[in-house]
Amino acid sequence: MAGRLSFSNITALAPMVRVGTLPMRLLALDYGADVVYSEELIDIKMVQCRRVENEVLQTVDFVAPDDRVMFQTCAKEKQRVVFQMGTADPDRALAVARLVQKDVAAIDVNMGCPKEYSTKGGMGAALLSDPDKIEAILRKLVGGVAVPVTCKIRILPSLEDTLTLVRRIEKTGVAAIAVHGRFKDERPRHPVHCDYIRGVAGALSVPVVANGGSLDLVKSYDDIRAFKEATGASSVMLARAAMWNPSVFRSAGPLPLHDVMIQYLTYALRYDNHAFNSKYCLCQMLRDKVESALGKRVQAAQSNRELSEAYGLEELFQQTQAELEARRDALLSPERRRGDVIAMDGDVTTMALKFQRREYPPQLTPKMFLLEWSRRQKMEQPTYQTVQRAQDRAFQSTVTVQDRKYRSSLWEKSKKFAEQASAVVCLRALGIPEGRAGEENVERLHKRKMEDTCNADEDKRKKKQVMNDDGSL
Ligand code: FNR
Repeated sequence: MAGRLSFSNITALAPMVRVGTLPMRLLALDYGADVVYSEELIDIKMVQCRRVENEVLQTVDFVAPDDRVMFQTCAKEKQRVVFQMGTADPDRALAVARLVQKDVAAIDVNMGCPKEYSTKGGMGAALLSDPDKIEAILRKLVGGVAVPVTCKIRILPSLEDTLTLVRRIEKTGVAAIAVHGRFKDERPRHPVHCDYIRGVAGALSVPVVANGGSLDLVKSYDDIRAFKEATGASSVMLARAAMWNPSVFRSAGPLPLHDVMIQYLTYALRYDNHAFNSKYCLCQMLRDKVESALGKRVQAAQSNRELSEAYGLEELFQQTQAELEARRDALLSPERRRGDVIAMDGDVTTMALKFQRREYPPQLTPKMFLLEWSRRQKMEQPTYQTVQRAQDRAFQSTVTVQDRKYRSSLWEKSKKFAEQASAVVCLRALGIPEGRAGEENVERLHKRKMEDTCNADEDKRKKKQVMNDDGSL
């Protein structure tokens, strides 16, 4: 088993909301970061998540009740990823830490973020004025999980107060303290107070991770050493410098931004990252070029396909999609592939299946089969209720037949397909032919449909004839 993550003499990707998602973390690791922090994730949301092993993407997903993936990680970063949490509640913090600890290298508590989403409810920088709460949270975590626990603070108005706080924090048993060398009310444009970080580093025996140097101190890998010297800290954490160009972690020097963006997008496609998140990160890298021709295309993109097109990566997009699809298919057993495994979700009968258009003759669909069958049974027409989820705009439909509900647990790209999938579930659950090519009575129905069409044409022709006979034309 690998040892505990050390925070001594490391360079880290700092926690950044929206930026620190899986593709950015993997890219930073590729370029040489030793440790990567997740974006801050709020305990109230995380505690409701369930842990799902995503076999297709080969990730571990923490999924909220509304099916949004709040945190996604994978084996490649397991020994190096720090899960950063926003919390003001020791018990809830522990519950979340226990939920994720198997999949991450350490747990960090955000005590520095001055933004409202973090400070409301006493989280983030609000904790700095409540050292008892800080101590309670950290003690609970240190005593309750097997991975190292750390925290990230801002400095207090006086060095003396800052030192009193960090000494108290150190006693809780944390593995490291990251210090963003700015006061709570200071903005990112204010110069960083290296002297405060130096004071903290000199006062503690646990590793101190210096942060806040992106604006005017750290432009390239060589500056990281200079920032360590200026602060006396053994470790450094970079936020904006890495957000603007993650190859800042490369000891051989940064790469051209265009290459970096392509590598970022390659990870984003591979892990099916949400297009709006990828777009946000790419816009941060484009920075002042966001109004260029490329920048405008990136801003206008609504999907991973359109983002790929902006960079001329259509082929990579197709290939990645095909690989994911092939993995999806390979994972399904013959029964599951046919979707024959029934599960109840409340009062809804479900199967995990996708509508495969190519399995049906051109003019027949499962929906038509279900309608035809209901008519023959003198039942009411089936009704379809479809929902669309926010994160990828996929659809799921539930069909009701004689007060019983049926749906596929898999989501479809279009409303039409979602309805067809729910019809397939209903037909299979009831053991009724569904119209697939080669099925026994498909040919018969197909023939009947052709006959119906011919008859309708014949009727039309006759009507016209009648009109002609009447001389009414
Ligand atoms: C941040 N920062 C931040 N800090 C934190 O503890 N948790 C978070 O989720 C975030 N989110 C975040 C998003 C974005 C877009 C930025 C730019 C920053 C603060 C960040 O980690 C760091 O402390 C500061 O940016 C200062 O470091 P640099 O930028 O000078 O290296």
